[in-house]
Amino acid sequence: GTVVLAYSGGLDTSCILVWLKEQGYDVIAYLANIGQKEDFEAARKKALALGAKKVYIEDVSREFVEEFIWPAVQANALYEDRYLLGTALARPCIARKLVEIAQREGAQYVAHGATGKGNDQVRFELTCYALCPNIKVVAPWRLPEFYQRFPGRCELMDYAKKHGIPVPVTPQTPWSMDENLMHISYEAGILENPKVIHPGRPASMAATGPRAVSCICSLIGNFRGQSTSPNTPDVLEIEFEKGVPMKVTNAGDGATRSSALELFIYLNDIAGKHGVGRIDIVENRFVGMKSRGIYETPAGTILYHAHLDIEAFTMDREVRKIKQGLALKFSELVYNGFWHSPECEFLRQCIKRSQEAVVGTVRLSVFKGQVYILGRESPRSLYNEELVRLKEYHRLQSKVTVKQDE
Ligand code: ARG
Ligand code: SIN
Repeated sequence: GTVVLAYSGGLDTSCILVWLKEQGYDVIAYLANIGQKEDFEAARKKALALGAKKVYIEDVSREFVEEFIWPAVQANALYEDRYLLGTALARPCIARKLVEIAQREGAQYVAHGATGKGNDQVRFELTCYALCPNIKVVAPWRLPEFYQRFPGRCELMDYAKKHGIPVPVTPQTPWSMDENLMHISYEAGILENPKVIHPGRPASMAATGPRAVSCICSLIGNFRGQSTSPNTPDVLEIEFEKGVPMKVTNAGDGATRSSALELFIYLNDIAGKHGVGRIDIVENRFVGMKSRGIYETPAGTILYHAHLDIEAFTMDREVRKIKQGLALKFSELVYNGFWHSPECEFLRQCIKRSQEAVVGTVRLSVFKGQVYILGRESPRSLYNEELVRLKEYHRLQSKVTVKQDE
């Protein structure tokens, strides 16, 4: 049969591509452009050279921002109080296109290179099954005939050499990275020891840094007390409508951005420059183990703070409490791979409904790894300046009286 492989261009999925062919599949390679730094044309050539029947390179970055990141911003989505869900949001976006291609090509199978111990296998597969219940998933890292043959990187390298798969020329980082518009994550390798300090990306890699997430250099400096970030803040105004950022203005140079993708990339640049949005955490994976990860989420961190502020300013107190509970559940579902489920769909609708009056502008400054809220204004504010100024007691009394009347 035909299998559509979620291909990254890296060593693992290149070996998987050839291995699938060996098993008798016709392989179609699909590479999503979701904002990572990648030579897509080189990856296309590589996949074709390895025997892919066809290669799809699909730019999903705009839909990633509009359909996945924006609902997360509206929710103030956070997993275990800290993780902004960069990888968890990207997987259903990538997998949705995978299914679409499989259907277009009449392929019965899809394949991915996620391991059998992680969250990503779950996110890929739940999305595929939700959108196309008949699809069959091939997950080589869970198949004994695959993982027994490749117990380590050496065996993969040997296999690659034997089958003419170009092996990475850049020195291997001692950890694995996953990168998209929302974040870069670092985990595994030497980071599996939770007390080992992540030294940051090698300078050689920072120089050719990712298109969207350019925070690396200044972020590394921050925690070492040798910040290379600018000594003057950037002051930004972010306008929201229905809980979604519509426009960013830099109060310094007057620069503005108002399309979703450009706005998000601009915030990544500004936040990255100032080293905003890096965390080092241990989290609970869905599959029942704790794992250690380092995440850099520049734009996502600015928007998290800005949205929280405009929401508090415009949302009814009791609605907010309920919405907060929904967002907690939403975050958990997203982390666990249930983006495309009835319950998650329902929560997104509820959260979206809660955002109708979340409109206005937040002014903030970005400086030395921090986001400082400076002020806000809104036509839908529930803040009553007159009430706040009053010093008399009778207002409180009248509120009590109203309650007694009810
Ligand atoms: N632990 C994070 C998560 O589950 C990041 C996973 C990174 N994925 C990867 N393939 N390196 O969302
Ligand atoms: C993997 O194991 O494939 C990456 C980590 C994860 O999915 O949690």
